[in-house]
Amino acid sequence: MKKIAVVGLGYVGLPLSLQFAKRGIAVVGLDVDDSKIKTLCQGSSFIRHIAASDVSSAVGEGMLAPSTDFSRVSEVQAVIICVPTPLNKYREPDLSYVLETGKAIAPHLSRGTLVVLESTTYPGTTERELREVLEAGSGMVAGKDFHLAFSPEREDPGNPESKVAKIPKVVGGLTPACLDAAVALYSAAVDKVVPVSSCAAAEATKLTENIFRSVNIALVNELKMIYERMGIDIWEIIAAAKTKPFGFMAFYPGPGLGGHCIPIDPFYLTWKAREFGMHTRFIELAGEVNASMPDYVIAKITDVLNRHGKAVRGSKILLLGLAYKADVDDIRESPSLVLIERLEALGAEVHYNDPYVPVIPVTRGHSALAGRESRPVSGDYDCLVVATAHSEYNGASLAALGVPIVDSRGLVPHGPNVFRA
Ligand SMILES: NC(=O)c1ccc[n+]([C@@H]2O[C@H](COP(=O)([O-])OP(=O)(O)OC[C@H]3O[C@@H](n4cnc5c(N)ncnc54)[C@H](O)[C@@H]3O)[C@@H](O)[C@H]2O)c1
Repeated sequence: MKKIAVVGLGYVGLPLSLQFAKRGIAVVGLDVDDSKIKTLCQGSSFIRHIAASDVSSAVGEGMLAPSTDFSRVSEVQAVIICVPTPLNKYREPDLSYVLETGKAIAPHLSRGTLVVLESTTYPGTTERELREVLEAGSGMVAGKDFHLAFSPEREDPGNPESKVAKIPKVVGGLTPACLDAAVALYSAAVDKVVPVSSCAAAEATKLTENIFRSVNIALVNELKMIYERMGIDIWEIIAAAKTKPFGFMAFYPGPGLGGHCIPIDPFYLTWKAREFGMHTRFIELAGEVNASMPDYVIAKITDVLNRHGKAVRGSKILLLGLAYKADVDDIRESPSLVLIERLEALGAEVHYNDPYVPVIPVTRGHSALAGRESRPVSGDYDCLVVATAHSEYNGASLAALGVPIVDSRGLVPHGPNVFRA
């Protein structure tokens, strides 16, 4: 293949586009967000861990052509869809972005074009919902006139070792020919492609990976609370347990789940399972435990302030880390946003510090926080709360400030003023 289109140039679509461009495949990068397209056309990046120099050289060499013009799909041999798949307000799958994309590209598909969905979703989406809009809009038949496949994205934001080319890519096709086309496409860009039997199998693989994480994080969060009552530190236990060379994999507790994947994706399966008369009890329980973590942290803050003769109301609190995980600037679904809102509802004055988030952008569900600015770390607070273990934070220096610290990340060494949560 000489030229492809990538639709949705976010955390997934942009690095993928750059990887194809690097391997000599020209990419038309399509997005509905005009400001992102303008930024890319100027050779700049809007994602912290993607270097502007990578964008500017790909654009400069004509290997990446950012555009809002979906008719350019007629120029390409493959289209990869990387648009959001959130939950709606009833916590049900919202496929509207995927289906809108399907409608937008369908009229411009040529015979033999390959369409691959990468957005995380429940098994059956590619073969049913996406296929229907593509066939209706193109007048062609999937698996006969054009190829259709699913290949989940596997990104590890914040991990400098996580390179698109090095992460094996699972691929499922509607027909054996669709699978062959998708394997050929990704083999050009990544080192290892893992074919599976169907699009649904590839969709289920992605959900399984994320459900595995969600359930295991819930487990350590529960153990954290039990062990705390026993005077045992979960962080010490995990460090010791992970010396076992087999049968144990370390997961870490925290103030709640964040990011675009783990808090959301499992519920795509929950919803779909109902159609089959099944209840996803592990997923629901994990969701319940993980979602209760901000309240656990707040209970700990309340307790710590109380020990110092203070109430939450009127206290000044600095929250360290707004991003949902260390060393990234992504605050989607971050539990820190929930912590700020709940502490303020209790009457606290809450500031935040985050070297990766100088100003809070507009977010779904927390728009009232937009525009607030990161404050310097200082001892001028009644309590510090460690919500994200950014590399910039040094536990010993934080402890030296002499302020009570509630630490949900096991960052600060044990001391009289340090309370794990
Ligand atoms: N971010 C991750 O680490 C990650 C990892 C694995 C899987 N995923 C999955 O990949 C998908 C994309 O996630 P993301 O993090 O890249 O999201 P994102 O919000 O960073 O990017 C999505 C992009 O799609 C664009 N978009 C929205 N509607 C569009 C449309 N109709 N046509 C064209 N562009 C449109 C948006 O403007 C945005 O630039 C999701 O399904 C997500 O679950 C994300």
